[in-house]
Amino acid sequence: MAKKKTSFVCNNCGYQSTQFLGKCPNCLEWNTLEEVHSTSSVSKNKPAAEAQNIKNISIDGSERIKLGIPEVDRVFGGGIVRGSVNLIGGEPGIGKSTLMLEVASAYSKVGKKSLYVSGEESPSQVSMRANRIGASDERMELAFEVDLELILEMARECKPDVLFVDSVQILTIEGGIPGSPSVVREATRRLVEFAKTNNITIFLIGHVTKEGTIAGPKTLEHLVDAVSYLDGDKYSTLRIFSGVKNRFGPTNEVGIMEMTDKGLVPADHHKLLSASLEPGVAITAVSMGNRPIALEVQALLSPTYFPNPRRVVTGCSMSRTMMIMAVLEKRCGLAIGKLDVFVNIVGGISSEEPSLDLPIAIAIASSFIEKSVPEGVSFIGEIGLTGEIRPVTNLGVRIKELANLGQETIIIPKQNTTGINLEKAEIVKVISVKDVLSLVWPRQG
Ligand code: TYD
Ligand code: MG
Repeated sequence: MAKKKTSFVCNNCGYQSTQFLGKCPNCLEWNTLEEVHSTSSVSKNKPAAEAQNIKNISIDGSERIKLGIPEVDRVFGGGIVRGSVNLIGGEPGIGKSTLMLEVASAYSKVGKKSLYVSGEESPSQVSMRANRIGASDERMELAFEVDLELILEMARECKPDVLFVDSVQILTIEGGIPGSPSVVREATRRLVEFAKTNNITIFLIGHVTKEGTIAGPKTLEHLVDAVSYLDGDKYSTLRIFSGVKNRFGPTNEVGIMEMTDKGLVPADHHKLLSASLEPGVAITAVSMGNRPIALEVQALLSPTYFPNPRRVVTGCSMSRTMMIMAVLEKRCGLAIGKLDVFVNIVGGISSEEPSLDLPIAIAIASSFIEKSVPEGVSFIGEIGLTGEIRPVTNLGVRIKELANLGQETIIIPKQNTTGINLEKAEIVKVISVKDVLSLVWPRQG
């Protein structure tokens, strides 16, 4: 007889408890714990699994398939392992289905058969989209289905190399409410079991909302082999595809793509930088995973019409920006305290990297004095409370990226000891923000 166990799971962070709690002790959210009945799989009829010697276990299953989509291969550590279960999370409408169709098409190009089951769009809708982005192939089967048992049945018959399930929130299993944490988890568990016993690779799409409150991919991360997220600003075409978990490779890789009318394509890095520099703009390169991304920081300072000046920060840390403003005021004498300050990272990119400090400071100072940064000058560096410029990590790759994008002068922390020598760009090492200001705008410094 199967045994029934009851536990409570937080649908925000996945925390498990044996008793009901109004507030999750892990993520501190209220009313997020939900009762989950799990049936222990110990059954009388099932023989116990046998242990095998590690040397005798075949490792054929770890065959890695390179898709030929560089941004995706990179995130999966050079290709996708056969029989792995991969969860792709992201907000609705960000481009998950589009990306997965491209992945399915890439599989067909290497001679692998895929089955794409959508519970959100009809096969004709999916097919229309696949045609438009040039991703249709006779080795791709499409189906509309939400019942998990029927999907597994279909997969057993169709015997694909890869199964796509779009999305995990729409799946139904007997006696459960679709989209509830218990059903989403149980469905994922069954899919994992199916993938492992049949050596079929599975891509599982999961929606997350900004609040992450819906039974989202967060609660499934421990069940699957790899988890990656597709992020980006809906109003910008740029998409960041990043790995957060990978049982078969590194996790800090990032792919940068752009949503076009032909689907998601590798992003053109030049597009992140403006053609001409206006006051309030500074160029830098952040490091996402091991990857450098050149980007533009913008700031706008204007007289305030409110009792308290407004500070609006998008794409970077509010507290760091406040600290930078205090340093500019106190150490460099810029009277910005009574002005509204808006700071934005262009392209919908978000980064909390401390190395953004210096470009943020320069953008703010540039807007304050209404003078632009000379063309071809970019900035990398963390700022300390005394106004000193502190060293940053991964500096070499960032400098190379900026030089490749035509930046001629790159201002970096003096303390960084990397022996970087570039023909294309001049490297200037600095000690304090004040130094940088007098270097960039000699008379105002
Ligand atoms: P979609 O892949 O459906 O997102 P998700 O599966 O994450 O919900 O893509 C959503 C948006 O992408 C949609 O609003 C239209 C846009 N889009 C393009 O701009 N170009 C394209 O080639 C495709 C297929 C979609
Ligand atoms: Mg979709």
